[in-house]
Amino acid sequence: MFIDSFKVESPNVKYTDHEIQSVYNYETTELVHEIRDGTYQWVVKPKTLRYEFKTDIHVPKLGVMLVGWGGNNGATLTGGVIANREGISWATKDKVQQANYFGSLTQASAIRVGSYNGEEIYAPFKSLLPMVKPEDIVFGGWDISDMNLADAMARAKVFDIDLQKQLRPYMESMVPLPGIYDPDFIAANQGDRANNVIKGTKKEQVQQIIKDIREFKEKNKVDKVVVLWTANTERYSNVIVGLNDTVESLMGSLEKDVAEISPSTLYAIACVLENVPFVNGSPQNTFVPGLIDLAIQRNCLIGGDDFKSGQTKMKSVLVDFLVGAGIKPTSIVSYNHLGNNDGMNLSAPQTFRSKEISKSNVVDDMVSSNGILYEPGEHPDHVVVIKYVPYVGDSKRAMDEYTSEIFMGGKNTIVLHNTCEDSLLAAPIILDLVLLAELSSRIQLKAEGEAKFHSFHPVATILSYLTKAPLVPPGTPVINALSKQRAMLENILRACIGLAPENNMILEYK
Ligand code: NAI
Repeated sequence: MFIDSFKVESPNVKYTDHEIQSVYNYETTELVHEIRDGTYQWVVKPKTLRYEFKTDIHVPKLGVMLVGWGGNNGATLTGGVIANREGISWATKDKVQQANYFGSLTQASAIRVGSYNGEEIYAPFKSLLPMVKPEDIVFGGWDISDMNLADAMARAKVFDIDLQKQLRPYMESMVPLPGIYDPDFIAANQGDRANNVIKGTKKEQVQQIIKDIREFKEKNKVDKVVVLWTANTERYSNVIVGLNDTVESLMGSLEKDVAEISPSTLYAIACVLENVPFVNGSPQNTFVPGLIDLAIQRNCLIGGDDFKSGQTKMKSVLVDFLVGAGIKPTSIVSYNHLGNNDGMNLSAPQTFRSKEISKSNVVDDMVSSNGILYEPGEHPDHVVVIKYVPYVGDSKRAMDEYTSEIFMGGKNTIVLHNTCEDSLLAAPIILDLVLLAELSSRIQLKAEGEAKFHSFHPVATILSYLTKAPLVPPGTPVINALSKQRAMLENILRACIGLAPENNMILEYK
């Protein structure tokens, strides 16, 4: 059964006019590796840590500024949210289609709240804590192409034509602000598009972005802004001592107008200086060490990298399942072809390399979790190929072959073929990223022994379900397995309302 909402009644939870306060017992373990009876042994000691959470329940008016607003993702997300807001339906060759948020974790997925009369009871994910409604978001942003959003939607060729016609009046007047363009960082084939660019030195460009954010906030009367990069994939920037390895070197390089600071890093610097959350939806290393340190210093949320939309999402499910079932994947080969502007940009070797790196580490944690299947350091062969095929447009094809070793030397090969409009997968993920980034900035926590409440670490691992190569604070393990990432997010939100993690034990019926 499905219910719309619920309230928790517990001595550990208090609802006040402005916040939800909860006390939460975090059941975890402490590991000890020490000599016992003359040999080294691992000893596991269960331990309970008491946490307090408080969540501000005032939902702000949210502004979302997209870098690359006029791209396929930007136009698809903006149009999709307007269609939901206006209750638009349109005729397809199959049926009359209503606007929806399918593919969004926050808007279209459910959580289990318990059992009632022998039935499992589920509620919307978004009912866990007060969240911004997508329809209340004010969208804006930058693009190096000055095309308005209605024309950008037509250029993207993602939505059905009847839907495009209905959306056009709402989107015609939406025109991206000029963006920071540096042809050295994206493919040369993007040059024709760049007719809307910010002039000046790198420092002046950062100042312009700060000015844009302030003006957007003022003009639209929004309480908070989140900025998200959904612009072209850039090449990796070189990480060099004295250039961008510390806050001082990065800010010094900005003063000196050093060429190797990428546009995405410039936008991110502007956001961190302005204390505006910045999420990176592409694979490049926007977050160079100096920038991560700047965000930590200023306690400004940063999150990334690279939306986990299709092939990688499947991979982080399938490999988790195989390794979890005691089956040994030995070869994973992924082909993609796509014909949108992203594909054209990725046809250059430097930008493809960024994508290749981001796609390649996704099975590491699952492989290293099973020492029965893999020797230390052993890894499946893992190859990723991406080709640009204009005819298929935004409808990306992903073909994967997983070969595994099974019982008694047997081999098992699984082949997948996934065809889908790339932007229809990415747009709901962008929505989740900005909504969860906003929500997490309203949560404060305090562990046993800590004197004061504080926010989550500025490097937002809470967003990792949505990204291919989750950015984590230095010294933190990277978790790629999708079910673990979802459980982490859901369970943290449950803790904020004093609910235990979903343990799936269902002991009531045992
Ligand atoms: P797109 O090429 O249609 O859109 C990118 C937009 O960014 C273009 O309009 C371009 O003019 C603009 N742009 C480029 N550099 C800019 C800059 N420095 N400042 C402002 N605007 C700039 O690409 P699409 O399909 O929307 O994808 C966007 C990004 O998201 C790509 O990097 C892609 O790799 C990444 N991504 C997309 C996924 C998907 O499923 N669609 C999945 C994972 C990542």
